[in-house]
Amino acid sequence: MTRRQAMLMLPALGACSRRHATLERPDPHSFAIPDAWRVTHLDLDLTVDFDERVLRGLAMLSISPGRSRSPQLTLDSRNLNIRRVEISPDQSNWRPARFQVGAADPILGSPVEIQLDNRTQFVRLEYATHPEATGLQWCTPEQTAGQKSPFLYTQSQAIHARSWVPLQDSPGIRITYTARLRTRPDLLAVMSASRDPAARRTGEYRFEMRQSIPPYLLALAVGDLNFELLGGRTGIYAEPAVLPAAVSEFADTERMLQAAEQLYGVYAWGRYDLLILPPSFPYGGMENPTLTFVTPTVIAGDRSLVSLIAHELAHSWSGNLVTNATWNDFWLNEGFTTYLESRIQEVLYGRERAEMEALLARQELERALKKLPPRDQTLYVDLKGRDPDDNVTEVPYVKGMLFLRALEEAVERNRFDAFLRAYFQNFAFQSIRTTDFLKYLQEHLPEAQASVPIEHWVYQPGLPPHAPQPRSDRLAQVEAAVRRWEQGTIKTRQLPAQNWSTQEWLSFLRKLPPNLDPRRMAELDAAFGLTRTGNSEIACEWLRLAIAHDYQPAYHRLEEFLTTVGRRKYLKVLYEELVQRPGGRQRAQQIFARARGAYHPIAVATVEKVLQG
Ligand code: BES
Ligand code: ZN
Repeated sequence: MTRRQAMLMLPALGACSRRHATLERPDPHSFAIPDAWRVTHLDLDLTVDFDERVLRGLAMLSISPGRSRSPQLTLDSRNLNIRRVEISPDQSNWRPARFQVGAADPILGSPVEIQLDNRTQFVRLEYATHPEATGLQWCTPEQTAGQKSPFLYTQSQAIHARSWVPLQDSPGIRITYTARLRTRPDLLAVMSASRDPAARRTGEYRFEMRQSIPPYLLALAVGDLNFELLGGRTGIYAEPAVLPAAVSEFADTERMLQAAEQLYGVYAWGRYDLLILPPSFPYGGMENPTLTFVTPTVIAGDRSLVSLIAHELAHSWSGNLVTNATWNDFWLNEGFTTYLESRIQEVLYGRERAEMEALLARQELERALKKLPPRDQTLYVDLKGRDPDDNVTEVPYVKGMLFLRALEEAVERNRFDAFLRAYFQNFAFQSIRTTDFLKYLQEHLPEAQASVPIEHWVYQPGLPPHAPQPRSDRLAQVEAAVRRWEQGTIKTRQLPAQNWSTQEWLSFLRKLPPNLDPRRMAELDAAFGLTRTGNSEIACEWLRLAIAHDYQPAYHRLEEFLTTVGRRKYLKVLYEELVQRPGGRQRAQQIFARARGAYHPIAVATVEKVLQG
């Protein structure tokens, strides 16, 4: 029996099992059977319990029948404690329903099978989350900037919404939602929905999302949060201690929003606010609609890392408006977004900056391609049986961006921009597959087929010949300086680094020769204070070098970095570098043992995989 068949038979399905089992599960990462039923709307009513570390309350689902009638509804869940399920034809006459939670799959969690009657239109579940829910992080006051109040936040992408709401947790499903939340009255709650920017702290909050979104965009945060407006539609939520620095760092957000609208059409979501999270947030950013979640590690003090905001904003079109239907099509979200990000950066900061960032990205892609197995080098990937969080590599992001750039270069920019605008309009509020895009491309940009090897881009490993090559004079000069320094033509203090931007520094560090003498590492450190840098990207790159060269003076900072920052991308790089050193695995394990309590469950899973080797 295949794993898929095994999963289909998991729950005891009763009399209708045979008929039911013939229906398709179109998403390998969800138990949902949309051909039977689709959840179309969610009403949440939850209490946030910081003492027990649980959310508890009610989820009411509105369902609509699919093509084939079925007497049961299958939902996704992970580690939920479901106390009661009721069904109703009209939201008033509720009666208890039989339900069963199937055995847990290590990646997918458990299906919830609910028996309906032939009048059911609403299903209400009374439930509580588990304290270790994979989609929730309960931060202690010590893990926050203010050190006084706890902080809760969710991270639902890719398949963690099911750990805090029982629903059809597939990006092929779209729902609207409302929520009512109760929490401590000294804390503010925010969600990925419309909210009152002037809301006072009362302990009771209401939200509404009228546009249909995939469930991975459900998001919630609760903490000691203040709000400040940036522009007419933009603003920032952050802890009081962080808010001023964030407001100054992200002052360009409103202009970014205007630039994106100019390029890709009206912004569909009302407000665009940022929420600055504690440093344990496992991602750089998360494009929750109306409210991008942001790591504090991009507050560099000089706005040099704001491409992350351009990226999350761009998801308002690529991802949130037009959504990948399964995680196999993830590149439709991230490749498009990385391309849009680059275009927004170019409008705001000019061609040279955008090109530097694109070139650095291409170099990172090439580095990644050297290590990834061929099956992970394609844009479309088959992730059945695998955790979709493991496909977050440079391939969907940067190979995807380069593919779109190849299309742009094949037809001229104006034409491609018009194509993208029409694409977003055509598929707005839909979830689509790679093949849907390819068909649309063939119909609406036929002239690109001649010069762009589309099949290779999407289905073959590696980069096709003549893949776009970003060019930057400034990075070329940095490379030349590295070579002169390496050959001894110039001394460390003669490096032309006074006015180097973050991007030039990153290029410099990445182009350094392997096996540097520790004395040369010390020279660089003495001249430029690299171990002390407050820029997280530069710090990560430097610490990676420090590990590779066993440069001891940086180890204190390394431990501090790894015990305070929970951003998955950095943890992966640094732990991977550590385990490659003689004795490094043990050192990594020691650091992890100390740091683990502060990491998000998603980050813990990432590091554990690295340490297991
Ligand atoms: N949507 C992603 C984050 C994500 C991807 C979460 C997959 C869970 C599963 C977000 O838009 C993103 O790409 N974040 C990047 C930053 C970006 C500038 C490349 C990150 O977190 O590093
Ligand atoms: Zn993204």
